Amino acid sequence: MGFVGLNVLTTRRDPGRTSGSGSRCRRSSVVCSVSNVDSALVSKAGKADLKWDELGFAYVNTKCFVKCVYKDGQWGEMTIETDPYVKVHIGATALHYGQSCFEGMKAFTGKDGKVRLFRVDENAKRLQTSTERMVMPEVPSNMFIEACKLAVRENIEYAPPYGFGGSLYVRPLMFGSGARVGLQPADEYTFVVLVTPVGDYYKGGLSPVTAFVQTKYDRAAPQGIGNVKVGANYAADILPFQICKSKGYPINLYLHPKTGKTVEEFGTSNFIALKGDSYVTPDSPSVLPSITNKTLMHLASEMGMQVERRPVTVEEIADFDEVAACGTAVVITPVTRLVHNDEVIKLGNYDDQVGPRFNELYQNVRAIQNAEVEDRYGWTFDVME
Ligand code: PLP
Ligand code: COI
Repeated sequence: MGFVGLNVLTTRRDPGRTSGSGSRCRRSSVVCSVSNVDSALVSKAGKADLKWDELGFAYVNTKCFVKCVYKDGQWGEMTIETDPYVKVHIGATALHYGQSCFEGMKAFTGKDGKVRLFRVDENAKRLQTSTERMVMPEVPSNMFIEACKLAVRENIEYAPPYGFGGSLYVRPLMFGSGARVGLQPADEYTFVVLVTPVGDYYKGGLSPVTAFVQTKYDRAAPQGIGNVKVGANYAADILPFQICKSKGYPINLYLHPKTGKTVEEFGTSNFIALKGDSYVTPDSPSVLPSITNKTLMHLASEMGMQVERRPVTVEEIADFDEVAACGTAVVITPVTRLVHNDEVIKLGNYDDQVGPRFNELYQNVRAIQNAEVEDRYGWTFDVME
């Protein structure tokens, strides 16, 4: 199953340029070495004909996606596909049994015009936990990172320019594409990386939301698959989330499925809170380990906070100084009200405003992502390198 290097076979007819520094690409039968393309590519960032300030979080078609198929015990060549459809066997395990997992991260155009992926190495590791749980072959980290960089480079025009607050959302997806009728893992897997430009969620600064506590539905079972990023977890959330939105609330909070007494996480983000000098986040085996939360915990402890990963009871939520949701999509969403069993609970000390320390943490993360401050942590990955 090893991955020995990047060998890209393109299905596009654009012989004019190669696909990335230091890697090898294959266009038709010509194998070429690529190392002198960076400056031309960097200047193409943000050149697509899009209204950057009108972008939301919706799929916008880009030029191409990256694809790699695992068959006969090994990964094949990476290809660049321009048709946004994948042909799959009618018996594919992903279609029947949900044997599929994905990742989500962002690439940002920095102040210096360079486009960088944020913590792509962490997404690579998390996908490995998902594939292991789903009995799927591992995507080696170097292959994952190269595929993500390649997908961004090939669509560099769609990376929103610096200053608009947007980003190029990167979605690696892996699914069982081999046919099975009995319940067992597939013998063929397809790994794709697609990208789509997304807007800045907070155009005028962080805006707090009211969250809805799900008491009728669970997201994940205690010993189930809640801790991995598999499609099935999101399927479980579609109905509860629709109900939540129809009541007028933008995010839903799940509680422990057995006891209903402790906090798990929001449908697509982790729960975080501040109390005194403590940064608190639930410690539960059925919560997805958020890379944003990991980032914030690191920065919070640098700011002198004590990071507490522990069970968080529903009763104590009202006592926190600041409460928020965190994830790739928005980094931090302040939560200032909670609807629980028809009761509206006011949260935090800041009267429906974002609190100062979550605001500071948010600004710090965004400054690193936008290359406005030095990345002292090695969290950003230049897609040209
Ligand atoms: N929890 C769930 C269920 C998610 O889908 C996500 C995805 O954004 C997160 C938490 C946050 O994870 P990350 O910070 O890695 O985006
Ligand atoms: C992600 O950005 O990776 C998410 O989990 C959010 C998505 C399900 C909308």
